[in-house]
Amino acid sequence: MSQPSIGQPISRLEGPLKVTGAAPYAAEYPLPHLLYAYVVNSAIPKGVIQAIDTDAAKALPGVVEILTHTNRPALAAFDFQFADLDAPPGTVFKPLYDAQVRYNGQPVAVVVAEDFETARYAATLVRIRYEAEAFETNIDDQMQQARNAKKGLATTFKPPPPKPTGHFEQAFAEAPFKVQAEYRHLAEHHNPLELFATTVQYEAGDRLTIYDKTQGTINNQVFIANAFGLPFKKVQVLAPYVGGGFGAGLRPQYQLFLAVMAALHLKRNVRLTLDRKQMFTFGHRPQCIQQLQFGADDSGKVTALGHQALTETSRYEDYTEGIAAWSHKLYPADHTKFKAQVVPLDVATPLDMRAPGGVTGLHAIECTMDALSYELGIDPLELRLRNYAETDPASGKPFTSKALRDCYLQGAEAFGWNERHPAPRSMKRGHKWVGYGMATGIWDAFQFPARVEMVLRPGGTLLVTNATTDIGTGTLTVMTQMAADAVGISMQAIEVQYGDSKKPFSMFQGGSAMTASVGAAIAKVGRKLQEILFGKASRIKGSPLAKATFDDVYFENGWIRLRQFPEQAVSFAQILASNENKPIAVKKLVGPDALKLRKYTKASHSAAFAEVEVDEELGTITVTRALTAIAAGKIINPKTAGSQIYGAMLWGISKALHEGSVMDSQLGKYLNDNYAEYHIQTHADVPQMEVLFVDEPDPLINELGIKGVGEVGMVAMPAAIANALYHATGKRITNLPIHFDQLLEP
Ligand code: MOS
Repeated sequence: MSQPSIGQPISRLEGPLKVTGAAPYAAEYPLPHLLYAYVVNSAIPKGVIQAIDTDAAKALPGVVEILTHTNRPALAAFDFQFADLDAPPGTVFKPLYDAQVRYNGQPVAVVVAEDFETARYAATLVRIRYEAEAFETNIDDQMQQARNAKKGLATTFKPPPPKPTGHFEQAFAEAPFKVQAEYRHLAEHHNPLELFATTVQYEAGDRLTIYDKTQGTINNQVFIANAFGLPFKKVQVLAPYVGGGFGAGLRPQYQLFLAVMAALHLKRNVRLTLDRKQMFTFGHRPQCIQQLQFGADDSGKVTALGHQALTETSRYEDYTEGIAAWSHKLYPADHTKFKAQVVPLDVATPLDMRAPGGVTGLHAIECTMDALSYELGIDPLELRLRNYAETDPASGKPFTSKALRDCYLQGAEAFGWNERHPAPRSMKRGHKWVGYGMATGIWDAFQFPARVEMVLRPGGTLLVTNATTDIGTGTLTVMTQMAADAVGISMQAIEVQYGDSKKPFSMFQGGSAMTASVGAAIAKVGRKLQEILFGKASRIKGSPLAKATFDDVYFENGWIRLRQFPEQAVSFAQILASNENKPIAVKKLVGPDALKLRKYTKASHSAAFAEVEVDEELGTITVTRALTAIAAGKIINPKTAGSQIYGAMLWGISKALHEGSVMDSQLGKYLNDNYAEYHIQTHADVPQMEVLFVDEPDPLINELGIKGVGEVGMVAMPAAIANALYHATGKRITNLPIHFDQLLEP
């Protein structure tokens, strides 16, 4: 039999289209008589708009319309309750709803013109008079407002932390070894390379074809239909090519809403593109303050785990993420106390950003474990092994699979962890201190329901359809690989259609869930198609398979062959011919086997290792090497999965050392809302990197044993860097990002 496609390091199928510029993005679809829209954003964080003077802007030749809360069309939009599948509990923000300004940068007007330049210039001529109100964007000033978040739909993905166990206070007080520390993170903004943009094609009768920058075509279709009171069938959202999402595209963003509003109002094709500065005017990773208290006994066994997280949210929605309870999914302890609260501020509602909650919590958890290892005088890796959980400590349930120990051991071996001198500030290379750090990662193994259709078409090609996007992860490629194996047909004979709300159901692409979600569906639909093909093949007159059962045959490269006598075979072409050359189609909705999986915990794991150099006089930091070992079940494509982990590791380094949106609480505004001052990792910062996938068969979790990769590659990295910096310098910096000047301070 020929080699399966699954497991092959296949390059991204749409790669050539993307690198040659042939793949159109949301703002690039050409449409006739297209109007261009540009958003005016509020200049204050809170208050009431007294007046908007649009006269000068309107007088500009080429300006078609300026919509504000005073003249916008009356829409169903402002009655709807359901926002979107990722909406936190609260009241969804409705652009141009009223005169109230809720956060700095809120869209308050949209200028529509014959060309982009005119729209953008006209936007600068719109004069707005505000009555400013007192506002609060400083979390420290609002600590007394901390409260539990309201519960809602999003709570299902992100449950609040569990109740305390044992007697935490006493156990922590009595622990012979303990660490207590506070960790602080600034807000961060996603900033995918592709700007958020929407191109709306308007057709008579309010039929809309929408090219949108999004991670979820159906999510946005449902949102627009609800918001504007349109039948679902009249709204199609397309996003076949997406230039990065990172969570920013999980929720429908305001440019979509405003582009549709303008198109419906003017009955014209409209395009709205945000600029880079405007990319800082909707959701962000929330700033966070964490308090950790870990206690251990003399043997290094953790006995008490305490973790409190305080995150900002907006005044109108309670955004939360799972930060506080991860330590008890990694380490057994009898006494635990977890708490997560929100502090409402006058900011936009925060939003999921790659590894939401996980990367925040694990930075604190894994730095605290590192600090504990020095208290105990135990190697940091050895401490993890002494506290290794064979079953989920929080629920007592077994894991469907868990090869974290292999991550630790194989990762340490490949990295050369044993060359580390245990004492901080003990390793040197020239005039640079050298440090080794490691940390553990864990992430949920989500699987969403997905409906896949397969059609074997005359000519013998296989059409596979699902509404999912491919936000740059390789989804198209792995779907093609999985379909090839599920049906027994070559990848070249497969066409996957995706990124289209008219295709069979998909959730938005997030949480590292899509490969498992579509994979399980492809496996089941492929199997069903094979059964149908086999049935038809065995009924063909004189069929060599007439007496065979399904188990007697195998499918390969468009043929069904007898295992015993492979030359006895029927081709898909023959089956189609016997079917009067009519297509053969199968469609199925497939979700996780909830009944079976209730008894298990599903998680992917990782171990990250990093080496840093710190200049002894200047404090400048270089990450010289980074390695991550991943246990995430079946890896469908080591190349695309590896790239996910490389990207995630880089973002982990970026989070540790560069990224942070600096809020000026005098102005209620992010000061560095641009690519020049919002620092991210650049090519020149990239260290020598290695990704290692450990073997982790998982026959329980789903049809293909997939857990999904992406976020699991990021979660451990910030702590690995911070721990390496401690090892290099003896300085424990607990706030992110860590800057060299902090290492210079005495
Ligand atoms: Mo992501 S935050 O899984 O889009």
